[in-house]
Amino acid sequence: MPGRLQNRSALVTGANRGIGLAIAKEFAKEGATVLLAGRKKAALDKVRKEIEAQGGKAQVCVVDLEKEKSVRALAKALKKKLKSLDILIGNAASLGARVPLTKYPLDTWRQTFRINVDANLVLLQELDALLKKSAAPRVVMLSARVATQGKATTGSYAVRRRWKRWSGSTSPRPGARRCVSTS
Ligand SMILES: NC(=O)c1ccc[n+]([C@@H]2O[C@H](COP(=O)([O-])OP(=O)(O)OC[C@H]3O[C@@H](n4cnc5c(N)ncnc54)[C@H](OP(=O)(O)O)[C@@H]3O)[C@@H](O)[C@H]2O)c1
Repeated sequence: MPGRLQNRSALVTGANRGIGLAIAKEFAKEGATVLLAGRKKAALDKVRKEIEAQGGKAQVCVVDLEKEKSVRALAKALKKKLKSLDILIGNAASLGARVPLTKYPLDTWRQTFRINVDANLVLLQELDALLKKSAAPRVVMLSARVATQGKATTGSYAVRRRWKRWSGSTSPRPGARRCVSTS
C-alpha cells in the first residue's frame, strides 16, 4: 500500500536529532522525499543513509539557521531544485540560557530569536510561492507548553514559542495552508 505522503516533498529543519529526526524518518516511511535541513552535514548524511537503507528518499540541506544569508541560500537552492514544496516543518530550535530574565545574556537572547523566530519567518516568506504550487501545502511550526504556561528560567525560548502560536494566523489563504501548533 502506498504511503500517505507518496510523491510529497517535506523540508524538516533540525532533522539530525530529536523530534526532527523522528519526523523525518516517519515522513520517509510514508513515502515523502525528505529534505533534511541542519548545520551538521555528517550527521544529516548519516540520517539520509539510514532512510535510504529502509527504501526511503532523502536529501541533505546544510543550513545554519542563525545566519539569515544561509537561510536565504537554502531557500534559493530549493527554489532551483523543486517544482513545488508540500510540507515545511519548522522544528529546529535553540533552548537558549536557563537563567532568570534579570540575568539573561542579551547575545543569547538575540541568538535564540534568530534561530527560533527569524529563520522560520524567512523560510515562510521565501518558500511561500513554492508551497502554493503544491496541491495540499502544509506548514507546521513546532511550539511548546512554555508558550502558554509560565515557567521560571525559560527566558527567550518561552517568548519565541509564543510567536509560533501567533504564527498560525498568518496564512494568507485560510484553509489552504494549515498551521499546527504542538501545544
Ligand atoms: N523535547 C521536548 O520536550 C519538546 C517539548 C515541546 C516542544 N518541543 C519543540 O520541538 C522542537 C524540537 O525539539 P527537540 O527536543 O527535538 O530539540 P533538540 O533535540 O534540541 O534538537 C534541536 C534541533 O535544532 C537544530 N538546530 C539548533 N540550532 C540550529 C541552527 N543554528 N541551525 C540549524 N539547526 C539548528 C539542532 O541541530 P544541531 O545538532 O546542529 O544542534 C537539532 O537538530 C523544538 O522546536 C522544540 O521547541 C520540544
